[in-house]
Amino acid sequence: MPSVPALEFNDVSKQYRGFFRSQWVTALRNFSLRVEPGEIFGFLGPNGAGKTTAIHLAIGLMFSSSGRGEMLGHKFGHAPTRRRVGFLAENVALYHRPAEKLVRFYGALNGMRDPHLRRRTTEMLKEVELTEVAGRNVGKFSRGMLQRVGLAQALVNDPELLILDEPASALDPLGRLRVREILQRAREAGKTVFLSSHLLSEVEQICDRLAIVIKGRVARVGTVAELLEAQDRFVITAKGIDALMFEGTQQNGFMKITVPALSQRQTIEKIWLSGGEVVAVNPIRRTLEELFVELANQNGGGHIAQEDARGPK
Ligand SMILES: Nc1ncnc2c1ncn2[C@@H]1O[C@H](COP(=O)(O)OP(=O)(O)OP(=O)(O)O)[C@@H](O)[C@H]1O
Ligand SMILES: [Mg+2]
Repeated sequence: MPSVPALEFNDVSKQYRGFFRSQWVTALRNFSLRVEPGEIFGFLGPNGAGKTTAIHLAIGLMFSSSGRGEMLGHKFGHAPTRRRVGFLAENVALYHRPAEKLVRFYGALNGMRDPHLRRRTTEMLKEVELTEVAGRNVGKFSRGMLQRVGLAQALVNDPELLILDEPASALDPLGRLRVREILQRAREAGKTVFLSSHLLSEVEQICDRLAIVIKGRVARVGTVAELLEAQDRFVITAKGIDALMFEGTQQNGFMKITVPALSQRQTIEKIWLSGGEVVAVNPIRRTLEELFVELANQNGGGHIAQEDARGPK
């Protein structure tokens, strides 16, 4: 039986009314995406690409202009499903309450009761390393501390799906490491994580798959390896060959030769014929940053959605 996707956007468009009544900003344009259960999915894109908009639609904070979407098998906005989801907003805005009370409040909103709620609250505050300040009012918290409380409230109900809109932007390196561990543990427990982030190295380290959104559309989707390995060029590592016969770089007795995919076979045969040995053949890897910049530039550089005169269709 095919599994129910954790999140599914089907041809979703979202227009916001601009400053003038006749003008509309198209934040999502025929946006389609499927997130499978059990994966850590990275959601990338330049500022203004539509990531937060997509997340707010899924959580049910607003409605799409057209198209449809489902979260854990139910239409976006289905209230009981929301209780099975943990959400950390981009700009953590929390009531000015002691951290512990606040986490308890969100747990209670999700239908949790003592003693389970008390135990989970204590555990989650420990998880984000806020136990010592649990009694302090979050109104006086630093940005990173707020993000940690936000994460604790997102985790308190032990959600099946965790939706995080830039969870680590204000965190120090230790905090980021902690978040990575938390997300990896969530995956081990069979949960799904949907993670919007500008921290490309974090995404590259933990995400099973990722999507890059440009101007309200998915420009690329796939595993990190699929997106970064350009299949058109390879590096052949060889040893025992005459350096003068090949163009490449020498390192510790090995020679690295970069070739287009089409001449890969020919080069390998030439190495063998000259008595050499092929040690490895690897596709060239781009960095995630290179791919990101390339995609943003292909789309006219200016990535932020422009106002247009057309209203919702
Ligand atoms: N409430 C709103 N009213 C009008 N326009 C909006 C509103 N919210 C977002 N937009 C516009 O929709 C587009 C997408 O915004 P969104 O916040 O979804 O981007 P994002 O990908 O989350 O960007 P960032 O990386 O900066 O967080 C932008 O052009 C933005 O100006
Ligand atoms: Mg955003």
